[in-house]
Amino acid sequence: GTVSIGIDDIELATSHHVVRLDDFAEANGTDPNKFRLGLGQDEFSFPAPDEDVVTMAAAAAAPIIQRSGSDGIRTMLFATESGIDQSKAAGMAVHSLLDLPSQMRVVEVKEACYSATAALQAAVGIVTRSPGQRVLVIASDVARYALDSPGEPTQGAGAVAMLVSADPKLLEIEPVSGLNSADVDDFWRPNDSTTAIVDGALSVTAYLDALTGAWTDLAAQGGPAIAEIDRVLYHQPFTKMAKKAQVHLAGLTGEDLDTEIVAGVSGAGAAAASPGPAAAHSAAATDSATAGASDNSVATGPRDTALATSTLYNRRLGNSYTASLYAGLCSLLDHDDDLAGKRIGLFSYGSGSVGEFFTARVVPGYEQHSHRQSVTEALDARVPLSIDAYRALHAAELSSAEDVTTPKVTAGPFRFAGIRGGARHYERA
Ligand code: CAA
Repeated sequence: GTVSIGIDDIELATSHHVVRLDDFAEANGTDPNKFRLGLGQDEFSFPAPDEDVVTMAAAAAAPIIQRSGSDGIRTMLFATESGIDQSKAAGMAVHSLLDLPSQMRVVEVKEACYSATAALQAAVGIVTRSPGQRVLVIASDVARYALDSPGEPTQGAGAVAMLVSADPKLLEIEPVSGLNSADVDDFWRPNDSTTAIVDGALSVTAYLDALTGAWTDLAAQGGPAIAEIDRVLYHQPFTKMAKKAQVHLAGLTGEDLDTEIVAGVSGAGAAAASPGPAAAHSAAATDSATAGASDNSVATGPRDTALATSTLYNRRLGNSYTASLYAGLCSLLDHDDDLAGKRIGLFSYGSGSVGEFFTARVVPGYEQHSHRQSVTEALDARVPLSIDAYRALHAAELSSAEDVTTPKVTAGPFRFAGIRGGARHYERA
């Protein structure tokens, strides 16, 4: 049919704590620019002892349910690669915390950082079949690497909840997708490990190979040409990876795309820059113009696809695995006031590996639903951890063999209360 289907509402939530990479650099005797410029990261979110993927997911979904109720929501798809149980879906606890109706299916989906995109496509399929239904898609992850490993500064935590419906208010998802799967051991987490194992160099090339495969397939499937895509979003394990992807896509397509990840600044000043939200997109455009031959024509410089604008939240969140691409989407929607009717390309990547390049159209009026203020307040409100306190929290591991009651720390709306009889318990904070 011609019914448009896509994202009707979206919310981003994160953890109680933050680790500042300047503090991390100082403690490790590393140049802070290694993180600010080398990885494109300023901070990472870190959960309090009474937080996990469930509490962040519930915090992200709660305002959506508050705004539009639960009528017609018969499916919840919970995407994560840092789940809390090998059998029971993390979404069951969210279902209970949000008092959702019993007449629902609730499942967890997994394929590293990619699975939220599979959930989104499944949701579109369900709504295509039953346009009266709505599907709640939640992506929530805590990215953990071993202490003192190269991945450690790319940790993070966050959740994005999305409501998929017919006649969506934000984004219409287009039907053509480019896909690529390849069995590769670039990043994984065995069942008996709380941290990921990663071959960093291989993970970067596997990501770019998946981008090549997905982009090539998109063309083969009759998808839009690069010139017909106005903005491009990438999975962001660290924001410098989005820059690498943009350079790669420019090479694949022969199109001159802007590859600056910090808006309106260059050189050493980039490290301290925190671009003003409203100015971010136009500042990036100005930057492109300066790079071009003429001082008054953006068209002569590389084309700005909002790389800088779409990385603003992620620089502060760190990696949020399944949620990362969609945190980039939140950043774009909240900071770019010229998106009405524009086409966005989204590249989703999950190690192991799956890549998908799909496109969507921004619905006029989207700007009335900006969450810039609440997201910025939540990021600013995170309580910084000293490096000693962070390392102690990182090392603390709960065993389900003993009953535990967690201390009340989080200022968020939901908390992980502890373990009783081997089962995890949650409550409203
Ligand atoms: N000033 C400015 N830049 C500096 C610098 C300084 N003082 N010191 C170093 N740099 C730059 C380096 O030149 C390098 O830049 P390029 O990537 O452009 O070459 C960058 O900082 C990184 O430094 P290293 O090459 O020394 O690499 P590293 O040891 O810091 O490791 C990493 C980087 C492999 C990405 C590591 O952080 C890691 O393993 N991360 C986890 C895995 C990951 O995120 N992979 C991404 C693809 S997989 C994926 O996307 C799925 C997922 O979510 C995990």
